[in-house]
Amino acid sequence: MSIAIITGSSGLIGSESVAFFSSKFDKIIGIDNDMRKYFFGEQASTNWNRLRLEEQFSNFIHYTADIRNQAEIEAIFNEYGGDIKLVVHTAAQPSHDWAAKEPHTDFTVNANGTLNMLEATRKFAPEAVFIFTSTNKVYGDTPNALPLVELESRWEIDESHPYFMNGIDETMRIDQCKHSLFGASKVAADILVQEYGKYFGMKTGVFRGGCLTGPNHSGTQLHGFLSYLMKCAVTGDHYSILGYKGKQVRDNIHSHDLVNMFWHFYQKPRIGEVYNAGGGRFSNCSIIEGISYCEQITEKKMNYTLVHENRIGDHIWYVTDSSKFKNHYPSWSPIFNLNITLVQIFNAYKSRY
Ligand SMILES: NC(=O)c1ccc[n+]([C@@H]2O[C@H](COP(=O)([O-])OP(=O)(O)OC[C@H]3O[C@@H](n4cnc5c(N)ncnc54)[C@H](O)[C@@H]3O)[C@@H](O)[C@H]2O)c1
Repeated sequence: MSIAIITGSSGLIGSESVAFFSSKFDKIIGIDNDMRKYFFGEQASTNWNRLRLEEQFSNFIHYTADIRNQAEIEAIFNEYGGDIKLVVHTAAQPSHDWAAKEPHTDFTVNANGTLNMLEATRKFAPEAVFIFTSTNKVYGDTPNALPLVELESRWEIDESHPYFMNGIDETMRIDQCKHSLFGASKVAADILVQEYGKYFGMKTGVFRGGCLTGPNHSGTQLHGFLSYLMKCAVTGDHYSILGYKGKQVRDNIHSHDLVNMFWHFYQKPRIGEVYNAGGGRFSNCSIIEGISYCEQITEKKMNYTLVHENRIGDHIWYVTDSSKFKNHYPSWSPIFNLNITLVQIFNAYKSRY
């Protein structure tokens, strides 16, 4: 029997993992307590996605458990033991801004929750591959010190800089900068996951995402950039651009392309490895460029305003260099570009509303 355990299984990356791995494992165990609704309100609930997965995948079993609850998590691992071959840990408090509202909640979900997952894996399934969705916020605001130039619709890195060609790689330092409390709790988890590899020899992989996106995101103002942008474009709701003249650049990786990275790592795992994982030069946009794409797809003008003040520690320009992963796993490459992804998100909203 082969089993994959997926936390945050009703969220964007968790649900994509359930769908992707359901044909590759005998059973998929999902863990999600819909805490996204607690963080961001009813509109952000992921319960609709859980119901969709239960309907579509007969080998999917859902547990409404909290990753902060060690006893609950260990009971699940105890039940399946050595049959657990893969753990994909995506459950998190994912917003920079929300973290400052309840630092204890943010830290216990992101850091302690990850420790619970690692310990349960070590105790009950030490041979399993453990995959963790970290974030580019572990680099804090260090990217903002790069030599940036202002262009008509975006910030760009100076052409002479080594990051110009492919983006930011894993050698960027992670300390002595401003992270947001979210970034700090994710750093703690990121290092823990590496350490369970380096110290205990477990097959752990850390994936530091840029913006993760796709049609199954429950986009909300505080989290889910493209999903929320398209939601506003479809519904006509007002969108506030926070600072940097809307020229801040984010790269966007489709959830399928990211989960396909997990699959490659699973088949040839390494010990305590770290990868940047993002859309890179293949898929990125500034906010005002994103607005323009949304307007083209929906064929209507968006209702937005520009607020002068930026989010604390927000990146001005972030483009991911995923070439370390590509070198380790040459048969992986991203499939979904920005336009295809936005059209998918648009169609998903049209059918959900
Ligand atoms: N979406 C992005 O742009 C992005 C960027 C970089 C990193 N990440 C990271 O990737 C991961 C997945 O992101 P996502 O966009 O799929 O998030 P998401 O919010 O869509 O999904 C996370 C899921 O985890 C669940 N959850 C939260 N706290 C829980 C708890 N205590 N116990 C059980 N379940 C809980 C939520 O209900 C939600 O369904 C997160 O770790 C996030 O920090 C996301």
